[in-house]
Amino acid sequence: MPLPSFLRFCDRLVFVEPAFSPRRVACGDQPVIPDYTPGMAKTDAELDRRMMARALRLARRGQGRVEPNPMVGCVLVRAGRIVGEGWHRRFGGPHAEVEALRRAGRRARGATAYVTLEPCCHHGKTPPCTDALLHAGVSRVVAAMVDPNPLVRGRGIRRLRNAGVRVDVGLLEDEARSLNRPFCTRIETGLPYVILKWAQSLDGRIATRTGQSKWISCEASRRRVHQLRARMDAVLIGSGTALADDPMLTARDVPVRRVATRVVLDSRLRLPVSSKLVQTAGQFPTLVFTSRKALTAHGRTATCLKSHGVELIACPTGRTGIDLRCALRALARRGATNVLVEGGSQILGSFWDAGLANETYVFVAPILLGGATAVPALGGTGTSQVSNAALSSHKIMRCGSDLLYHSIL
Ligand SMILES: NC(=O)c1ccc[n+]([C@@H]2O[C@H](COP(=O)([O-])OP(=O)(O)OC[C@H]3O[C@@H](n4cnc5c(N)ncnc54)[C@H](OP(=O)(O)O)[C@@H]3O)[C@@H](O)[C@H]2O)c1
Repeated sequence: MPLPSFLRFCDRLVFVEPAFSPRRVACGDQPVIPDYTPGMAKTDAELDRRMMARALRLARRGQGRVEPNPMVGCVLVRAGRIVGEGWHRRFGGPHAEVEALRRAGRRARGATAYVTLEPCCHHGKTPPCTDALLHAGVSRVVAAMVDPNPLVRGRGIRRLRNAGVRVDVGLLEDEARSLNRPFCTRIETGLPYVILKWAQSLDGRIATRTGQSKWISCEASRRRVHQLRARMDAVLIGSGTALADDPMLTARDVPVRRVATRVVLDSRLRLPVSSKLVQTAGQFPTLVFTSRKALTAHGRTATCLKSHGVELIACPTGRTGIDLRCALRALARRGATNVLVEGGSQILGSFWDAGLANETYVFVAPILLGGATAVPALGGTGTSQVSNAALSSHKIMRCGSDLLYHSIL
């Protein structure tokens, strides 16, 4: 059956994360993305934009593999032709500039380097990219944005300019910032990037009045959630969901880019030792934030959880439970860039009320649950003004029989 026109439109908006495909990686000097048509750009400015857009596409390929580093892409162009390109493929691996320079070899001399982030100038896991660019004889660097990392923050640009290289900054800056929003959030706030996700009925319920929620969303939506989990550093729920659903919270039947730590906020240490989370803690990292009071009162449970491989961290508590900022700071200190909050109602409401959410994925299923006591999506206090509730940026996509509302907050 043909789709209604508004859904056809939505379909075009589907955000397709480009899958890493070895077939698309060319060897030697060949452009990595084969769809490039040399000579298409009519002006220098157009060539600049095209090349930076290309570097951004390359950078995204590192998503889920490079964190806590930023995603970075680099394209080297000499006399209007691409002579090398690369992207940061994995944490600890060569940076994008080094990959591109390796491909270009001697042809990097006199070339322009299009980089999605200011080149680094410090010794980290790899030597400074500024030195590599200077050594190769690159004559111009176009950087989409300044690196907000205090170790860099303009120093890379100064180093290149002082050595006589022309450096232009700010081309496609919004696109570059949006690509690396999680990285920028962690660097600028000390907190990880928080994505709220839930599946709800048309009448805004995430579970029936008896607490049942399996399955509100369709298979395609659940697969989308597994894809999300597969690039997260942590997947977080409250003790209520752990007790009601006994979830695994792992990414299944999808390519896994990183194994997320499963996190439970549980101020009273109610997580059952018999739960799947605890029973599989030896295989998948599992972390419980609890209160000092609970650790003292339930010392034997704590010991038992630890013996199964569960890590316990004591946090201060407030009116609603675990202090969310304290828990998030602890996750960021452990290197977490992306945290997926999967509910339930009270946890989602607490994150929402505290203004700690950066992005939401709301799967809306064509079902009605009804019931005054059925579980609402966002618990907590909520807003009193409808005028405050509009989301500034969102996309609507079809996911099987559900609609997915994806919002950047
Ligand atoms: N459809 C969906 O997408 C979806 C997803 C998840 C869950 N669900 C459903 O949601 C229901 C569970 O919802 P829920 O609200 O009871 O569970 P929840 O939000 O997962 O857990 C709530 C519990 O978390 C603990 N907590 C610790 N720190 C907190 C904080 N800062 N803020 C809020 N809570 C904190 C509290 O227990 P302590 O006082 O013991 O710490 C609180 O009672 C189930 O029926 C489940 O099936 C649906």
